[in-house]
Amino acid sequence: MATALSSSHFLARQTDWQDIGSRLSTVRPVSCQIDPMRRYWAGRRFFTARDPETAAALEQARNLFEWAYGFRRPSYAGQRWTRRAPSAGSLYPSELFLVLKASGHWQVLYYHFETHRFYDAEISAADRMAGALGICEGRQAILLVSVLWRTVQRYGVRGYRYCLLDGAHVASNFVHAAQTCGGDTGISLGMVSSDVEDMLDFGYAEALIAALICDSPIGGQCAPLPPLDASPSQTLSGRTECPPMLSPVLSRVISFHRETLPLRPRYSEETFVAATDSCDDLELWASRRYSAKDFTGAAISFKQYAGALVAAAAPPPVRHSDAARLIPFVIRLRAPGSSPGCARLDSAGGNSGLELDAEEIGKRLWAACQRQNIIKSSAFAIVLSANHAELASGGPTVYRHTVLNAGFVCAELYREAARSGLGTTSIGGFSDLHIAALLGAEGISPIVIQAFGAPSLDGVKVDAATICGKARASEPALNAMRILQ
Ligand SMILES: Cc1cc2nc3c(=O)[nH]c(=O)nc-3n(C[C@H](O)[C@H](O)[C@H](O)COP(=O)(O)O)c2cc1C
Repeated sequence: MATALSSSHFLARQTDWQDIGSRLSTVRPVSCQIDPMRRYWAGRRFFTARDPETAAALEQARNLFEWAYGFRRPSYAGQRWTRRAPSAGSLYPSELFLVLKASGHWQVLYYHFETHRFYDAEISAADRMAGALGICEGRQAILLVSVLWRTVQRYGVRGYRYCLLDGAHVASNFVHAAQTCGGDTGISLGMVSSDVEDMLDFGYAEALIAALICDSPIGGQCAPLPPLDASPSQTLSGRTECPPMLSPVLSRVISFHRETLPLRPRYSEETFVAATDSCDDLELWASRRYSAKDFTGAAISFKQYAGALVAAAAPPPVRHSDAARLIPFVIRLRAPGSSPGCARLDSAGGNSGLELDAEEIGKRLWAACQRQNIIKSSAFAIVLSANHAELASGGPTVYRHTVLNAGFVCAELYREAARSGLGTTSIGGFSDLHIAALLGAEGISPIVIQAFGAPSLDGVKVDAATICGKARASEPALNAMRILQ
């Protein structure tokens, strides 16, 4: 009982710090690249394979990495470079490492997306680390790492949640690409631990958030390489910065992240359900997926609406089993064939929340989502949430896994939208308390919102979510301070 209570308090404090109005989370955004990863590649030779098997494995991994997270050139005036996975504020905190046995030795290789090359991360304990991850000869692991400060410098403690969601998009893309064009390799989510993270000799504020374990070298035949847009040269020149050692907000995020890592790995047996994408699907979501800039408010079809609801309620091909159950809700503003309102989409089903008209729902949703205009003109929004008690009793590891699972579902929602021609965007900037109140759902922790509607093609995408420099601490943040005193 005591443990459940203290873990519930611990998580309450951590999520209060993530509150979008928390004064304990104020940061000042930096105006240059945050690139501690430079150390792996700047002025160094890229890794070359000494035998044909390793060369083939590297080529395959490179192709799949590019499908999952490669750069995409701007497709309209004013747009910045984007990547094949969405990212809160286009800050792209995720980085990928490949662990494989090359010419008889375990190697950890960093993949640099601008030069499209692998670099040796020179990890001295690579053998022990492979053992701790549970990979033996013939297997490979893909490590998902977050450079936390890239996102935290703008979004404060809330940025940790965004890093996990961003990483989940990359992992989901990788699994889809591997299953579509990489043969029948089984891929499972490994259990990362603080042991494994320590063995990676990472720099300050670099976090190992997930590992994908491939049960054989990926793919029988080599996956095709997607079009490689010329390097954006974002970090090849210009000023770069490393994460600061003295930011209390960053320290809070790091210590929470460390709490989410169990000391030793525990293995999950779950392998992913095969994705059923065709090569055309892969091309569609990897090259043409985008986050809507705004919605026109025009009608959408019932088929588009129903397709998104089915994708929200279905288990995604990638998921952690050691996680709280995701509870999807829909908030309808102008959904076809349904009156405005909120409803739970899982087996508990049924309408929830107050009976309000579309305008009032739009107003409340807008106020809860940091007054981001995009949400007002959406047709409907899906809120992925979890039961707070279930999250708290599982502890921080379950929290990380649950947020990753929510990210995997969002990745499916982006794909569904690309297939059906709907506009969509993830919305991470919202007040958890106000969204739970709008849903009329007690004890629910909203994790992420996915807004849908007829896309507006004018203007430039602006991610209007913000957290920095809020003057007034919100009620939950004050409670958090009281707990601390
Ligand atoms: C975790 C997460 C949170 C996001 N939050 C917001 C948000 O609050 N508001 C918004 O307009 N866009 C949001 N976005 C969308 C990003 O702004 C978008 O992914 C980024 O601009 C890159 O554009 P692209 O998805 O078209 O490649 C979010 C994306 C992610 C992955």
